[in-house]
This record gives sequence, C-alpha cells and structure tokens, in this order.
Amino acid sequence: MNQDELKQAVAHAALAYVVEDSIVGVGTGSTARMFIKALSGMKDRITGAVASSEDTRKRLEGHGIRVFDLNEVSELPVYIDGADEINPGLHMIKGGGGALTREKIIAAVAKTFVCIADESKRVNVLGAFPLPIEVIPMATAHVARAMVDLGGSPVLREGFRTDNGNLILDVHGLQIVDPVGLETRINHIVGVVSNGLFARRPADICLLGTYSGVQVLSAH
Ligand code: 5RP
Repeated sequence: MNQDELKQAVAHAALAYVVEDSIVGVGTGSTARMFIKALSGMKDRITGAVASSEDTRKRLEGHGIRVFDLNEVSELPVYIDGADEINPGLHMIKGGGGALTREKIIAAVAKTFVCIADESKRVNVLGAFPLPIEVIPMATAHVARAMVDLGGSPVLREGFRTDNGNLILDVHGLQIVDPVGLETRINHIVGVVSNGLFARRPADICLLGTYSGVQVLSAH
C-alpha cells in the first residue's frame, strides 16, 4: 500500500459518516478529492454539498453534485476534510492548499468534523509543517514581523492568491505546544484573515489511514 492508497481508504471510510438527504461539507486537497470521487457514487442519496474552495466546487459540480452557498444552509451535519498535521487532541494544521479560511468557516458551522488523513499526518506536537496564515496583502510585512516575534520564520507563498484574493504566509520553525493559545494570539494580529491552526474547533473524529487499516480516532 502507498500513501495514495491510504488516502483512498479513508476517503471511502468517510462515506459512512455522510448523512443521507442532507448537505455535506467538503474540504480541499488530494484526500478531499478522493472523497469527492467516492461521494459521487452516492450523489442520489444526498441533497448536495457546500465547498471549501473553488477547486472543490468545480469538482463537485463536475460529478453532478449540487453545490449550495453556505448562507443558504441552516444545518450542516458533517464536514469532511483532510489535514496537514493532526495531534492526539485532534487539533490540526491545515491550509497546505491555501483554502484554510473557507475550511474554517465550514468547520465552524458543521455539527461533526471528520478529518481524513493518512498516517504521515499524525504528530505529537504540531509545527513541523509550516503554519499557513491568510493575510490581507497590505498587512503582509506587519504580520510577518509579528510572527517573528512569536518565534516563527514566515515565508510568503510565491505566486499564490487565495480564493478570497489574499496572500499566504507559511510560518516555519514553530513548535506548537499550546495550539488553542497560539491560534487565538495569531487571530488577534491585525491583518490576519485566519490561520491554519484548527484547535479552537478541532476535528471530532479522525479516520487515519494506516498500513494495518483505517483507525477511528477521537480526541483524548
Ligand atoms: C487544504 C488543506 C488540506 O486539507 C491539507 O492541505 C491536506 O491536503 P492533502 O489531503 O492533499 O494531504 O487544508 O487547504
């Protein structure tokens, strides 16, 4: 089994969490893309989806799945998305694909957040993966200086704009021992749109693809 096969396994396992006749929140990235493909096999049993990025929206529509604006949706039973890192508390770093802000909004609305990830994403301490921060362009240097003060080394993601028209700073060198505290501190820096720490609203369940099968993790 290779990493893609582990991702396939969790993408398929996630179908069991989709609530029939409801709208499902769908994430962004390679694991989410595999989930979209799997979801297309049950598209007649769901009302539709909300998408965490333009890429995901196009892929869902390409499979004939109706995509709703989040503002039209009063209830979202489940959100299914990947992660760049996940710790035992099911706190995550996300945003490797740059979709962190829309992902965080959908996660906030969803009743249950199911993270789908292969075992390379499991860590004890978050931070080896550079933490993405979406910034208003004119605030980039200010936010970068603030992140240096917090012990990080920010790098502008070259040639990239988010779906919201903003920039991404990838912050290297952090050892995140207090994910909730750091998420809150970064949110308070003026010019930050959102940051890729998903700790205040962690996943509820993680389907982890391992070489001995799919493990179902909950926070501890
Ligand atoms: C995109 C994300 C993705 O969930 C994260 O980058 C994981 O991606 P992949 O499934 O390709 O490993 O947060 O913004």
